[in-house]
Amino acid sequence: MKILWVFAHPERRSLGGSLMTEGLRTLESLGHEHRTSDLYGMGWKAVVDADDFGDAPRDRRLLVGPEQERAYRERSLSEDVRREQEKIEWADTLVFQFPLWWFGPPAILKGWFDRVLVQGFGFGLKGPDGRTLRYGDGGLAGKRALVVTSVGARESGFGPRGIHGQLDQVLFPLLHGTFWYTGMAALPPFVVYGADRLTDTGFAHSAAQLRERLRTLPTTSPLPFHDENGGAYDEDLVLRPELAPGLSGVGVHG
Ligand SMILES: Cc1cc2nc3c(=O)[nH]c(=O)nc-3n(C[C@H](O)[C@H](O)[C@H](O)COP(=O)(O)O)c2cc1C
Repeated sequence: MKILWVFAHPERRSLGGSLMTEGLRTLESLGHEHRTSDLYGMGWKAVVDADDFGDAPRDRRLLVGPEQERAYRERSLSEDVRREQEKIEWADTLVFQFPLWWFGPPAILKGWFDRVLVQGFGFGLKGPDGRTLRYGDGGLAGKRALVVTSVGARESGFGPRGIHGQLDQVLFPLLHGTFWYTGMAALPPFVVYGADRLTDTGFAHSAAQLRERLRTLPTTSPLPFHDENGGAYDEDLVLRPELAPGLSGVGVHG
């Protein structure tokens, strides 16, 4: 397999850093190829700003037709963004590793999505029938994505009735709104709970669990999200009533 490991933690000598070391070593021992994007290490620019638009026309209404649209996109991509896109194209599996901060990834990783998954690459592609390809289809279709995260809270608090909300639902913006939206199959997240109180034994246990998750990476079934165009949704993009009957909220989508 060809794995891009995106790491969003400011400190390599952290639990997260140790887990990444363990993870990359495991991938090597399994014979997988890997590349990394250590976002803090690279000094990744986390926010989209005027520089990201280069000298392209600022007013999209000035664009007429696909040629100008393409020119707009290409001129606006800086070298660092192109490099990341090239890594994504190379990979068949993406790992996103981060500590959970305020119920989501650190801003630097959000900024990586904002800047790298641009229109025409991560979204906004159209199929032969003119429909926009997304949710199960799109620029990154065929790839798989795994979240590796650590959280301060205990597992029970992120359970089905836990106070923090069920973790896969907390991660819905990433798993469904980013991975699945761009076409990538979202794998069940790997989570280290109680990360601020982890003992040596606890770390050894987590490292062993991570090794096992990586060993089974090629055969792990993704989360069962529905394709946008597979018949699960009506023309208003509402889940048909026979699916998850009587239920609502983000949990109904897979
Ligand atoms: C800014 C910040 C926000 C955090 N938000 C959460 C949170 O929303 N939920 C949670 O369980 N833990 C939260 N934590 C705890 C971290 O997830 C925890 O410290 C981290 O996973 C430990 O791994 P590390 O030692 O590799 O950083 C937060 C920590 C920080 C610094």
